[in-house]
Parts: sequence; structure tokens; C-alpha cells
Amino acid sequence: MRTQVAIVGGGPSGLLLAQLLHLQGISSVVLERKTKDYVLGRIRAGVLEVGLVDQLRAAGVGERLDADGITHDGTVISYGDEQIRIDFAAHTDQTVTVYGQTEVTRDLYAAREEMGGAFVFEVENVEIKDADTDQPYVTYQKDGTGHRIDCDYVAGCDGFHGVSRQSIPTDKRKEFEKVYPFGWLGILSETPPVHEELIYASSDAGFALCSMRNANLSRYYIQCAMDDDVRNWSDDAFWDALRRRIPAEHAEMLVTGPSIEKSIAPLRSFVCEPMQWGRLFLCGDAAHIVPPTGAKGLNTAASDVHYLSQALIAHYKDGDNSGIEGYSQKALARVWKAERFSWWMTSLLHRFPDQSEFDIKMQQADVAFLRDNANAQAVLAQNYVGLPY
Ligand code: APR
Ligand code: PHB
Repeated sequence: MRTQVAIVGGGPSGLLLAQLLHLQGISSVVLERKTKDYVLGRIRAGVLEVGLVDQLRAAGVGERLDADGITHDGTVISYGDEQIRIDFAAHTDQTVTVYGQTEVTRDLYAAREEMGGAFVFEVENVEIKDADTDQPYVTYQKDGTGHRIDCDYVAGCDGFHGVSRQSIPTDKRKEFEKVYPFGWLGILSETPPVHEELIYASSDAGFALCSMRNANLSRYYIQCAMDDDVRNWSDDAFWDALRRRIPAEHAEMLVTGPSIEKSIAPLRSFVCEPMQWGRLFLCGDAAHIVPPTGAKGLNTAASDVHYLSQALIAHYKDGDNSGIEGYSQKALARVWKAERFSWWMTSLLHRFPDQSEFDIKMQQADVAFLRDNANAQAVLAQNYVGLPY
């Protein structure tokens, strides 16, 4: 088989890229290791920057997002007894949209199916070959049979555990990593959200986040030990811990109910440089990971897809290769800013096992500065709604 762009990975990065290319008449094949149901069963974050919302509309998948997405023009940062509302609209003239990543992925699948785009699920042993030549190709197995796709370019959209990054020789890439000494225990429950905006809360007992999917679906997280196990957490134990970590006025209003999903995610910052090698380009989690504080994971994947789709479109439409040559540099410039912001919010709001009294004073001073300084609030707002592409 031959295609213009072979896309490894059918998560949000791969699907969005395929759709944006398709609309410009550029062919692609998406190879996904799992089944569609498996991919749609993963619960991920749910805050979309304006840049991603615009891209989804441009990709023709804005309808349900526009109908069901909830516009948020601010968020609450709570630290001990302190509550600071960050007004995105006032500081940036922009808002974010709360709409689950699972729904984004569902909409992208539906669009790809509607246009009859090539998609292969449950592929095994994907290998990217000759990416440093003008004739790259991808091989894989499906139901025990070997296949080969010849292509012009390969997009590595296969997440943190994928093969794409590993296909770049180790002496041609450098990895930067920070692992945090805790995880997030998250639950989804069919209960009304405790507040109309998200609450990022830091308390002596650790961090908590109150988020939502819609008027009757809430998403809550609490900081937990990195080696903790969901089986240690009954729903009641979770709700008790959450109540102790959020401001009292909200704790009193909290409506609890049975969890319909419960999982623990580790927290990690990770970047691979460069994000391209010959004709292979990395996008999204394949190239970088952020801790979820600040909701930058999906949004940073989306900015990669923006730069890469623009670069490929300029190549095919105008013979302009500058975007392709500069992809890694351009993407990384924005990636590192999202890394900084996520690291900062994580450092500000979590309890670290080895935290000294001095470290806590530093957090408190940072929070006091944020409370008293409109410029500091504007910086947070600018980063949260998303830096320009
Ligand atoms: N071959 C084919 N597909 C693969 C392979 C492989 N060897 N390895 C992984 N995959 C698939 C995974 O099954 C998954 O569906 O690639 C997809 C990657 O999807 P994600 O991990 O969701 O990564 P990405 O599409 O970059 O999404 C952006 O940002 O912070 C996050 O939560 C956020 O998942 C979101 C991500
Ligand atoms: C979520 O709703 O799942 C969510 C929201 C904001 C974050 C992280 C996760 O920072």
C-alpha cells in the first residue's frame, strides 16, 4: 500500500492530523494498536484551549463540541484558607472549553469513518524503516499477516509508550525527564459538579482538583502516593479525603455518589529533543508528557498537530519545505513553555514527601504574590488559556 503520510497511533494527535490533512486532499493511513472501544474507554483530561477548539472546528468536528462544551472564563486556585479566582476573560479576552478528551476522540473517529479514511486497528509490531532516507516505509502485522506501507512522511502519534520515538537512534535524540513523587487518584461520578468553575486546591493533606464533564458528570482528583493502589480507596474514603482538601464552603456542598471510573495516574514531565528525524515527526505524548496540573497534555499535542499539518500542507500545496525543516524547533519552543507552566502549577500546589518548612514558605509566598498581583494572575491566565501558536 502507498500513502502520503503514514500515521502511527490513533489517539487524538493522530486522528486530528489525519483529518486536517484529508481536508487538504493529503492521504494518510492511521495505524492503531488497540481497538476503537479500548481507545474510547480511556478517561483523560477535559479542558480545551481556544487553539484546539479552533482546530477541531476547522477539522469539521466542532458541532457537538459547540453544543455540549462548557465555556469557562475563570478558575479557582485555593491554598489553605486562601482562594484566588483567576479571571481568564478579564486578563486575556479568552476562555477555555470543558469537553472531555474522550468526546474529542469520539468525534474524530466519527469524522474519519464518515469520509472513509484508511484506518487499521489492532496492528502489531509496527516498525518505521528508512526514515532518514527519501523513501521511508512502515511495516506491521495484522491478524498474523505482514503488511508494508510506503509513504513520503511518517507521523509518530503513538503516545509515550509507542515505537516512534524509539525509532530515532539514541545518539540522535536527548530525553529530559522529571518524575514527581506522587500520583493522582481520579474518579468520575454522575453527580453535579461542586462548583461552576474548576477548583485547584492545595491543603496540608495534599492537592485536590474539582473538575467536570457536564451538569451531571463530575471529575475529581486527589494527590496520592505514587505506589498507591485504587483498591485501597473505597468511594467513601475518596470523598472524605476530597472534602478535607477543598475549601469548607465547597466541601459542605459536595454531592457524592458511586464512582463510575477510578484510576491512578503517575505524574511526569518529559521531553524528547529533537521531535523529528529525517522524514519522521513526533507529535503529542510520543514526544512529551506534562503532569496534568494545568491541563496542558492534549492542548500541547494539538499545537504539534497544528505545526505539522501546516508544514505538510505547505509542502504539498506550495512546495514550501520551511515548515517541515523547522517543525521540531517550532514545536519545542511552545512545548517547553507548557512544560514550565505544568511544572510550576504542580510544584506550587502539591505536598512533596521531602518538603521542608522553607519549601512550604516558598509556596505560601508564591500564592500571596499571585493573590496580590494582577500581573501574576495575568501570567497564569495567559498560560492556562493557551499561549499563541
Ligand atoms: N502502534 C500503533 N499504535 C500505537 C502504538 C504502536 N506501536 N503504540 C501506541 N499506540 C497508540 C495507543 O494505543 C494510543 O491510542 O497510539 C495512541 C496514542 O494516543 P495517546 O496516548 O492518547 O497520545 P496522543 O494522541 O499524543 O494524545 C495526546 O495528551 O496528555 C495527553 O491525555 C492526553 O492522551 C492525551 C495526549
Ligand atoms: C479533568 O477534567 O480531567 C482535568 C481538568 C484539569 C486538569 C486536569 C484534568 O488540570
